[in-house]
Amino acid sequence: MQIIRSIKKMQVISRQLASKNKIGLVPTMGFLHEGHLSLIRKAKKLSDKVIVTIFVNPTQFAPNEDLSKYPRDEKGDIAKIKAAGGDIVFIPKRDSIYPDRFETYVNCEKITQTLEGESRPTHFRGVTTIVAKLFNIIRPDVAVFGQKDYQQVMVLKKMVVDLDYPIKMIIAPTVREKDGLAMSSRNKYFNAVQRKEAICLYQALKTAKQLVKSDNVNETIKLRNSMKRVIKKICPTAKVDYIAFTDFESLKITKKVNKNTICSLAVKLHGVRLIDNMKMG
Ligand code: PAF
Repeated sequence: MQIIRSIKKMQVISRQLASKNKIGLVPTMGFLHEGHLSLIRKAKKLSDKVIVTIFVNPTQFAPNEDLSKYPRDEKGDIAKIKAAGGDIVFIPKRDSIYPDRFETYVNCEKITQTLEGESRPTHFRGVTTIVAKLFNIIRPDVAVFGQKDYQQVMVLKKMVVDLDYPIKMIIAPTVREKDGLAMSSRNKYFNAVQRKEAICLYQALKTAKQLVKSDNVNETIKLRNSMKRVIKKICPTAKVDYIAFTDFESLKITKKVNKNTICSLAVKLHGVRLIDNMKMG
């Protein structure tokens, strides 16, 4: 497995590979867990060469967010990527991605305004900018992202259409711990007691889905209230940022659940902001 740190070198290698290989890309911010590894395995099935990137992208963090304490483990990540079947790891330097006078950003304007975008107004501009840069450097045929960051995938899919990237975008299912907690690098911030309470997001989503499926409840106001009760019961100090029911494709808010509805939520628990989602239909 090759480790590449220079943008120029990465460009040369991916252009050489492209003549004979389908290139699969898995962009990450490192500190890899089973969720990331499932994306690498998926990319492996869909392409000939898998390139995994590790870059903790400063432009997607707001000044009050956790950029400086974001967990890192480059050595461990490299070993995991190798074991999962990655062919190349691209680890660019911060200053080469964002040199001193950097001033060009990619911004998807509308579907970034709701949900995560409302609480984190500069977040998606950072995500689309870095992913566009990685797409330009690597020129993959396929790119794989996890459904856990559902809005992120929809925003990136929109960018691919709007900017004419010839890239197939794949959404891979969220990988969960045994108790249902969606895997996330941020789970590592919790102590044992807090970690148990972190299942409140999954439990709330499961409760809503159960109400839709078994009790035919479809008013989102009722579902949201039930979800809030579940969260409070499991973690009394939790602060719900949002619980939103939207159309899966358009991200438009819906008042009644139908087969295309997805429920997304963000909850702050013990200083850590977690997100999760589940299709209700
Ligand atoms: O999902 C992530 O880890 C990041 O947002 C991504 C897509 C790697 C861009 O920095």
